[in-house]
Amino acid sequence: MPVVNFAVEGRDNCVTIGDSAYVYARTEHGSFVLSANCPHRGGPLNLAEFEPGRTRLVCPWHDRATSVTKAIKAGLPSVRRGDRVTAVLPDPEGLGYTLQHRPLSTGLTGC
Ligand code: FES
Repeated sequence: MPVVNFAVEGRDNCVTIGDSAYVYARTEHGSFVLSANCPHRGGPLNLAEFEPGRTRLVCPWHDRATSVTKAIKAGLPSVRRGDRVTAVLPDPEGLGYTLQHRPLSTGLTGC
């Protein structure tokens, strides 16, 4: 499992390993490394917004909700220092990783 250091936001804020992508989410419920792939059909959870008054993110593709509290509890090991995050990410096939930019919804930027 690679240990990856990446940006909280902006350039290189997304780690991709094969078809999987990860971003750092800052929410009013906590901060954590989020799989940017919706478990339904791989939609962009990095663009998901919260259900009003709830702790669930709604995928922009088919409106399926994902619990943020469950995601935080099951979270990938990570630590944030300033504007950088270091995380241990799954790579069972040894594909290696790349860094890229992915936009984040306002619900995931602590705004
Ligand atoms: S891909 Fe996310 S709800 Fe379908």
